Amino acid sequence: MARKRDIIKKGFSKLLKEDKLKLVADYFENPGEFISLLKSFWHLDQDQQRLFDEFSENTISNFYIPYGISPNVIINGTNYLVPMVIEESSVVAAASAAANFWMQRGGFRAEVVDVKKIGQVFFRWEGKAETLQALMPLLSKKLRERAKPITANMERRGGGVCDISLIDMTDKIPHHYQLMVTFDTGNAMGANFINSVLEEFGETLRFFLAEQTQLNIQERQAEIIMSILSNYTPNCLVKVWVECPINQLDNADEKLSGKEFVQKFATAVKIAQEDVYRATTHNKGIYNGIDAVAVATGNDFRAIEAAGHTYASRDGQYRSLSHVELADDTFRFVLEVPIAVGTVGGLTNLHPLAKKSLEMLGNPSSKELMMIAATMGLANNFSAIRSLITKGIQAGHMKMHLHNILNHFNANEAEKEAVAEHFKTEKISFANVSKYIQSLRK
Ligand code: MEV
Repeated sequence: MARKRDIIKKGFSKLLKEDKLKLVADYFENPGEFISLLKSFWHLDQDQQRLFDEFSENTISNFYIPYGISPNVIINGTNYLVPMVIEESSVVAAASAAANFWMQRGGFRAEVVDVKKIGQVFFRWEGKAETLQALMPLLSKKLRERAKPITANMERRGGGVCDISLIDMTDKIPHHYQLMVTFDTGNAMGANFINSVLEEFGETLRFFLAEQTQLNIQERQAEIIMSILSNYTPNCLVKVWVECPINQLDNADEKLSGKEFVQKFATAVKIAQEDVYRATTHNKGIYNGIDAVAVATGNDFRAIEAAGHTYASRDGQYRSLSHVELADDTFRFVLEVPIAVGTVGGLTNLHPLAKKSLEMLGNPSSKELMMIAATMGLANNFSAIRSLITKGIQAGHMKMHLHNILNHFNANEAEKEAVAEHFKTEKISFANVSKYIQSLRK
């Protein structure tokens, strides 16, 4: 049957959840099966389900993703049990393997470089940049004063507006400027706070200019184009690294000496610094770890990734976010990455599992969470490169993926056992497993 493509009439969002589900089910060949499948993922506890429904719009069910743990992650001497939410089978295993490897070599080291975030008010104004610049001290004072009701709480917690500067964009877009505002949002990710302050700033800017009687009529008018935080947070930066004497890497691989391993490892990272195609995959591996922690703790992984990819291109070419330093027979593997996360506000305290994740991590500050997330990025990056330059990525990856292949074929317990035994020595691939299962079923 061809898929139904009718336009759904306006007002879908106003329908009851059951009615939305029925309406969507009509787009399936077997609506009853669709409805029971989606309902089987509803939470048994109605209050919990209501909470989930209200996180988003037009919800008809929940989409499960595995919640795993990477144990024994030592960061600056503290042992963490790190929650990771991710669907890719080998990520938690890779992170755990790296954590275990580095636990025996002093663990991970991390430091937060800075925690500043940026917001922008873009506006059109017809006048000379110098005129506006001369008004900035007075305008900044007004902006801060008028935003006090929004900023007071944050200021009590040590955060708030750090700096306001005027950026002249007229060489690129005639008559256009921006107020670039720097924020410290403490333990909150701060998106709502920043956006509320910026919108208030926009209003204040318009009124302020209108009141400047020394300006001509045109100069007394500003048109606010938009006010929004920037997800590029190069000054919300964390650095994490591992290091050890090169001879402590003698057993990093069965076939390579520590020196050979380090050379090959450093070359692989250098390639990711120079080659855009490789850099993208290399950094994707880093975000396997960072995103999994971000999701587990209710943080916005899209914002985190957007910042990181821009940061990776900061000198004009997209490059690896990690690098190797070799000095005095010491191997040092470093990741420097912007990560804007919060441990209060947003979903962090609303999502019951995000809340538990934070508890599992010892209710960290946002700075501590930056270090934990970055560590899991470096851990995944280390494991990926270690596999790539030794036995290849597929051996471990396919071993983890075997369960998925077996589930694809609805394998029963006896088949699963036979497959596990057979593929202890055989190369795992979808085609090979498929062939073997067919042979069992004959
Ligand atoms: C797979 O999700 C991530 C890797 O491709 C990363 C890498 O190649 O460095 C294994």
